[in-house]
Amino acid sequence: MPETLIIKNKIKKFNKQIQVSGDKSLSIRWVLLASQAIGKSKASNLLMSEDVLAAIDSIKKLGIKVKIRKNHYEIVGNGINGFKYKKNLTIDAKNSGTLGRLILGLLIKSPQKIRLIGDKSLSRRDFSRITRPLERLGAKFYYKKKNKLPLSILGSRSVKGIKYLENKGSAQCKSSVMLAALNASGTTSIKAKKSRNHTELLFKYLKIPIKIKKTKNYDFINIKKPKKIRAFNYQIPGDISSSAFFIVLATLANNSKLLIKNVSINPSRIGVITILKKMGAKISLNNQRDYRGEKISNILIKSSKNLKGINCPSELNSSAIDEFLVIFLAAAKAKGISYFKDLAELNQKESPRLNWGSKILNMMGVKTELTKNSIKIYGDPDLKIIKPITIKNYLKDHRIFMMCTIAALTCGGQWKIHDKDSINSSFPTFLKIIKKINIK
Ligand code: S3P
Repeated sequence: MPETLIIKNKIKKFNKQIQVSGDKSLSIRWVLLASQAIGKSKASNLLMSEDVLAAIDSIKKLGIKVKIRKNHYEIVGNGINGFKYKKNLTIDAKNSGTLGRLILGLLIKSPQKIRLIGDKSLSRRDFSRITRPLERLGAKFYYKKKNKLPLSILGSRSVKGIKYLENKGSAQCKSSVMLAALNASGTTSIKAKKSRNHTELLFKYLKIPIKIKKTKNYDFINIKKPKKIRAFNYQIPGDISSSAFFIVLATLANNSKLLIKNVSINPSRIGVITILKKMGAKISLNNQRDYRGEKISNILIKSSKNLKGINCPSELNSSAIDEFLVIFLAAAKAKGISYFKDLAELNQKESPRLNWGSKILNMMGVKTELTKNSIKIYGDPDLKIIKPITIKNYLKDHRIFMMCTIAALTCGGQWKIHDKDSINSSFPTFLKIIKKINIK
């Protein structure tokens, strides 16, 4: 029976220091790239969540050795396309769009059909966005239901570089083609709308031949097949997407202060900070440092009583894409109307989050105007929740669960939030940290 969280009281005033778990995007990328390296790579602070464990299980099924040590993970890669596996292999990406899409790029040369499956949420998501470019690189796909999981991939013997236009701002699509390019002859040229650039930074660090030219809205990326990838150790920084729930918690709480240590503040990921600051949040980034091309910092948040609505520039959308649910919550408690536009992609996530965000705010008594790709939120700093709220999280979306928990703790009311287990896909320690903050 999936467990339900019951919250009846707002969070008490706090002054605490926390650390969130490792970044999900970087954890999955480390697992996949280490599987292509030669020899032993190690990672510490790897996120121990279902999405990352699904990535580890997948490469293990593909014949890669993985060892769990006391404080780190070890992967012993067999080199590029060094997978060894039996016929009729099935890989389960569970809830993870990132794993499902990225691993297809690595399977571009698989000589036998490999089946890819996922959970209910992932099986309703679009895969044509990645099967189309991979078909151009030579892969063949077989479906039960067109463009959806379960699907099977059959690779090609001769993979040739392509020119690819990534126009959605999807880092998953860009990264999947980049991983396929590790096997492609000639040059793979990608014109990609701005999105998180962890794969590019890892390629540079690993000395994979990559050239990047940046313009305002697009990055032009050229990749050539490397001779080999050397094994590499990596210390995964804290996840800004997990931190976002606590940034909003501290912002909306009364007279509180929170320090979140060692978080990745990669500029392509910190839209949530930019947006909340524009709304009047008190957030500072301390002790900033560089780590293998990534930026890391401590984040200090002080509560702010005077948030104001925002007309959010859509250039910030991709750098805040996983954080909009909590941003909507901040907008509900801000003075004035907020407007978020060009957000059709938000309905393509683990659940249709633009629609759900609006529905949840309505249940809280907040007025919204929703279209297919935008939302207007009529904020109220004195918002009081009158009716009891029950959230049936039917696709078990981890971020819906966490947004509702933060809403209950900052806006009050009587809440029953279903599917506590959903946090296991990205942030299993979420409720433990909440408890730590809430205890005097
Ligand atoms: C991710 C990219 C984003 C994001 C997802 C993680 C990644 O998805 O929403 O949670 O690690 O590449 P899209 O590429 O679909 O925008």
